[in-house]
Amino acid sequence: MKKLIYLSLAMLLATSLACSKGGDSDPLNDPPTNNPDSGPDTDPDTPEPSAVSYQADIAPIISSNCTTCHGDPPTQNAPMSLLTLEQVRSAVENRGLLGRINSTSDPMPPTGRLPQSTRDLIEEWVNQGFPE
Ligand code: HEC
Repeated sequence: MKKLIYLSLAMLLATSLACSKGGDSDPLNDPPTNNPDSGPDTDPDTPEPSAVSYQADIAPIISSNCTTCHGDPPTQNAPMSLLTLEQVRSAVENRGLLGRINSTSDPMPPTGRLPQSTRDLIEEWVNQGFPE
């Protein structure tokens, strides 16, 4: 009889030990946190940057984000119109338009900067020499 009690005690101990051990997750067995997608972008399908044009790309951006103030006549104290290619070009060359659309402290539009891709497109248009 005594033997049996010892035996069951031993088994109890063994199971509780096994349980506490199995409940811990082993940090050494965690999967590596390497992200396989973080390598350089070598996607062969990435399109070449296409030509940007005032008519197709820039005018729509300006008209939906700027001309509420930079219309003709300009309103809300805006100092100039941005309704034609020449006016936008002049603002780039003489009024720091690129600096203002990228400014964090004093952005245009004043409500906050346009999405990066939109600002990139305007910059690309300037770099390509203001194509119509
Ligand atoms: C809510 C009205 C408003 C909107 C929208 C707006 N502007 Fe302006 N903008 C102003 C005002 C007012 C000024 C003059 C005060 C200043 O420079 O902050 C100004 C000034 C500027 C200047 C500097 C002019 C100078 O001679 O110093 C540039 C460049 C400019 N805006 C470009 C833009 C562009 C590009 C957009 C659209 C992406 C835009 N603005 C949208 C109101 C606006």
